[in-house]
Formats: sequence, C-alpha cells, structure tokens
Amino acid sequence: MDDPWGEDTAATYDTDDAAMFSDEVLGPTVALLAELAAGRPALEFAAGTGRVALALAASGVDVSGIELSESMTARLRVKPGSERVPITIGDMATTRVPGEFGLVYLVYNTITNLLTQEEQVACFANAAAHLEPGGCFLIEVFVPRLRHLPPGNTLVAYEVTDSHVGVDEYDVLAQRLVSHHALPGRPFARSHHRYAWPAEYDLMARLAGLEPHARWADWSRRPFTADSASHVSVWRKPDR
Ligand SMILES: C[S@@+](CC[C@H](N)C(=O)[O-])C[C@H]1O[C@@H](n2cnc3c(N)ncnc32)[C@H](O)[C@@H]1O
Repeated sequence: MDDPWGEDTAATYDTDDAAMFSDEVLGPTVALLAELAAGRPALEFAAGTGRVALALAASGVDVSGIELSESMTARLRVKPGSERVPITIGDMATTRVPGEFGLVYLVYNTITNLLTQEEQVACFANAAAHLEPGGCFLIEVFVPRLRHLPPGNTLVAYEVTDSHVGVDEYDVLAQRLVSHHALPGRPFARSHHRYAWPAEYDLMARLAGLEPHARWADWSRRPFTADSASHVSVWRKPDR
C-alpha cells in the first residue's frame, strides 16, 4: 500500500477538503470540543494539517496533537498560530505525550485508518491513558453503509458528481472497506479502512475504562437515529 498520508496527499489536503475548513463545519465542531474541554487542555489524535487543532486553539483552548505523517505536520507547522499547537510525531494507538488532558479527540473518520481491531482497541486505551478523571474521549466517524448493500454486492457509490466519484468496496467478512476516489485530472486514489458499528466502539471504550457520555449524529448535536450516516460519540473517564 502506498503511503496514504505522504507528500501528495498533504499538498492537496486543505484544498480538496475546502468545505471541511468552512465556518459551517468548524463552528459547531469547535463549540462542542471547547465545551467538553471545559478549560482543560485538549489532545488531538491524528491532527493532520491542523484543520481542527488550529481553530480550537484560536478559540482559547490549549491544544496538542499526535500525528503519524511528517508531510501533514509540515503543512500545519507553516500556518499562523501553529506555534501554539505542539505536535508529536507517532502512532495514535501507542504514542504517549506528557501531561493529562480534559479532552482527547479523533475526528473525520480517522479511527478507521487503524486497520485492525487490536489497533483500534489500543487507540481507545491510549486515549483513556491521556485523560484526567472526568475527561472525555470524542470520535467522529461514519456509520458503515451496510444497509445499502444488496446480498452479493460489495460496492456502494456514495457520491457521483462532476468533481468527485466515490465508491466504497466492502469486505464484510474482514470488516474492511476500500474507498475508491476519482477526481478530475488526478490519478485514481484509494484509501483503506476498518469500519465498526457504534456498539463496537462502545465496547472498546468500556475496555478502556470509559463510560458512555453522549452520541449525536453530527457536530450540531442532532439526534443519532437508525438513519444517521455518521456519529459524534463521547465517552468519559470516571472521577477518581
Ligand atoms: C482524514 S485526516 C484528518 C486530519 C485532521 N484530524 C482533520 O480533521 O483534518 C487523517 C489523518 O490521520 C493521520 N493518521 C493516520 N493514521 C494514523 C495513526 N496511526 N496515528 C496518527 N495519525 C494517523 C494521517 O496522517 C492524517 O493526517
């Protein structure tokens, strides 16, 4: 598998995902994260080019990050305000940074970049290990589109527009999917994911000693329903 987060991806990440940098997306994101941080420091797992970390830091929260990709981190480090967001290069499933945090968060489906259950369980445990008592772990992730798969079919076309064709290819036995992307003038791209049902994340949280706190469909805190395409889920470390 090519490095999915190398220089090619880093160079175009912010412009390809421009809508994700809009006030409509980041406004409610920062509002919820700042509320959960409640004046305590926050740690972003997989901080990327700083889309959320920089906006949260600008709102007054003390933010640090862990990020695997040097290329993504280099893009963050040239942005205004990045001196306030220290990044440790490493794997979010295993890397420890000093200190205790009131909030650890992992957004934009990135838990699914860990391709085994073992790594995802380790990631929850690592989040819990960074939390102070009463601190929260938040993830934002899609709900697998398994209900769109007729028997015998493995493909779900989730977006077909002039600017992007996206098709997910499910392997339900391995609980994995390959997301295929076609963008105008670009080489065909693929990303690999391990998906999980929300209940499996709840179990990972429980294994890490965390308690359920909230689950919404999105950052605007709409109710999570049987038809929700994504969820923003929060678990809390019990008080001492
Ligand atoms: C979809 S981007 C999200 C970046 C940022 N959180 C955002 O919301 O824009 C996924 C990021 O996860 C990082 N990543 C993937 N696997 C990782 C791992 N095991 N540990 C730390 N970072 C990882 C990638 O390098 C990439 O920067």
